[in-house]
Parts: sequence; structure tokens; C-alpha cells
Amino acid sequence: MTEQTEQILSEAREQLAGAETPEEVEALRVRYLGRKGLLTDLFGAIPQLPADQRPAAGRAANELKGALEALLEEARRRVECGEAEAAPSFDPTLPGLRPPMGHIHPVSSTLEEMLDIFRTLGFEAVRGPEVETDWYNFEALNIPADHPARDDWDTFYLTDELLLRPHTSPAQIRVMESCQPPLRIVVPGRCFRRDTEDARHFSMFHQLEGLMVGEDVSFGDLKAVLHIFLRRFLRADVDVRFEPDFFPFTEPSAQVHCTCANCGGDGCRTCSYSGWLELLGCGMVDPNVFEAVGYDTERYTGFAFGMGIDRLAMLKHDIPDGRLFFQNDLRFLRQF
Ligand code: DAH
Repeated sequence: MTEQTEQILSEAREQLAGAETPEEVEALRVRYLGRKGLLTDLFGAIPQLPADQRPAAGRAANELKGALEALLEEARRRVECGEAEAAPSFDPTLPGLRPPMGHIHPVSSTLEEMLDIFRTLGFEAVRGPEVETDWYNFEALNIPADHPARDDWDTFYLTDELLLRPHTSPAQIRVMESCQPPLRIVVPGRCFRRDTEDARHFSMFHQLEGLMVGEDVSFGDLKAVLHIFLRRFLRADVDVRFEPDFFPFTEPSAQVHCTCANCGGDGCRTCSYSGWLELLGCGMVDPNVFEAVGYDTERYTGFAFGMGIDRLAMLKHDIPDGRLFFQNDLRFLRQF
């Protein structure tokens, strides 16, 4: 640019900055770029210059033209759209918006913790189907048709043969059918019962089944595994009590209680003021179950257990009503 074009440009910049209406901008366009405007004069004067100055003057006039066009365009956009639109449409200095993030459901995180503990004890997690047959759910577990024990599982039947599993125990049979001992497995999953719902009973709930089979597996092993699990899970030095019970698929069978981790056994709301919590069923696998899957009952022994995952999650988080887990109320779920 020459001194002259620089001066025209700075003058135009100043005038355009002061323009507030489209008419004012248009008037300035005519003044600078119109047919009789300043630029036309400038171009018209070039032929009169000495030959050696013409190329530089032409280049300067062209540069000025480009700069003026850009300034006019900017000014037109500003006055037509208003200041707000001409400025960036957002404030880049504001902190960003955090995308909504979900998190793991408290029942799932409880299960993960349980699986971690059993994994360190050598138990592998496997899954079984939620729709089961009468054979896996009852017959093979030593509960023949018409046996009164069937009443203990308020089962949803789909057909005479198919049902929604009311416990995870049928997975024991499926695993033993396809694997030979020694084995150590845990089976988490959903179960279903025709239960009337209350704070501790749900028509859909979660169980964790456990099974260990091998040579010389004893009741002592069962006690050790459950005791270690409960102490680690409850993060407390709880006492464990095995109370005789009956399950068709185990003999002997027991109901396991532990001292209430909440009050240390003194009695509180969590343990219904008894000092003890009823946690799970277990026992030594009944030889009839081994026979159903073709295991050598002289050679192998094993233990099994089944516990409610939701109940343990209630205990862990001191939740008085387990229905809250399944109502999808985000005000509740966001707390975990
Ligand atoms: N399946 C039983 C129930 O739903 C729980 C159970 C008890 C599982 C004893 C076992 C067991 O494996 O040995 O009530």
C-alpha cells in the first residue's frame, strides 16, 4: 500500500465503525467503491503517472479495494444482524457443560464386590438361563413332582415344563453336567417368585449361588469359605452361626446367620433387635444330586450355598426397604 491508500483505508475504517444503519453503510460504499467513488478516481489517475510508478500504484489500489470490500461486508453484517449476532454466539470463557453420566446400580456394585471376594477364593463366575425347565429347577435338585418342598418356591410357570427360575440352584446342575470336578463356581442372576411384595420380598430379585466339588471337600471348607466371605464383605469381624435347616438338594443343610455388623450383636433396627442376621442357605451336596449329573458319589463331595444379593446390598447400605432398588427413582439411585 502507498501512503495515500493507507490513509484512505484508515479513514474508511473509522467512518464504517461509526455507521449504525444499512443506509449509512451503503452511502459509504458509494463514496468509496461507487462508480464515481474514490477508488474510481484512484484507478483513473494511474495512466497519468510516470510509467515506472504505475505497477506499484495499481497493486496498491487493488489491495485497497479488497480491504474496503471486506470492511464494508463486516459493517453490513453488523448493522443488519445487530451487535449480538456479530459477536461470537457463546461465551468461550464459561466453564463447559458436564455431560450427564450414569453410574453403576447399587445392586450391581454389591454383586461386583461379592464376585471379587469369591474370585480371590478361586471361584469362577458363570451364568445360567432365567427360563428353566422343570428338570433343572426341581427334579435334578432332588425335588420330585408332587414333593411338598416345591411349595417353598412360589414359581411362575410358563408351560407345564418351562418356568421362570425361582432360584439360581438349577445352574449347579448345568455346570456339573458339562464339567468334571474339581470345580468352584458362583452363579449370580435374576430370580422370580410369585411373592407378595414387601420391604424384603420382591417378585424379581437377585441370588448368588455357590458350588464347590472335589475329593475331600468338607463342611469345614464350607464354613471357612463363608466365614471369610462374610468378614470381607461386611468389613467386620463378625461371628457366624450355622443353624440346622432343610433343603432337598443338600444334606446336611444349614441357615447361616452372622452377628449384626451394624450393632455388633447388641440389637438394632437392621437385625430386628435380635443381634443376628439371617443371610443364606447352604449345605453339603446331596448324593442324589450328584447321581442326577453322573458324578461318582463315592469319590466326590461338595458344598453349595445360595444368598440374596439384594438383601446384602440392603445390609451394606442400610436400606430399610429393598423395593427402592427397583423403582428407578433417580433421587434414590443418585445417592450411591
Ligand atoms: N436355592 C435356595 C433358595 O432359593 C438357597 C440355597 C440353599 C441354595 C441351600 C443352595 C443351598 O445352593 O445349598 O432358597
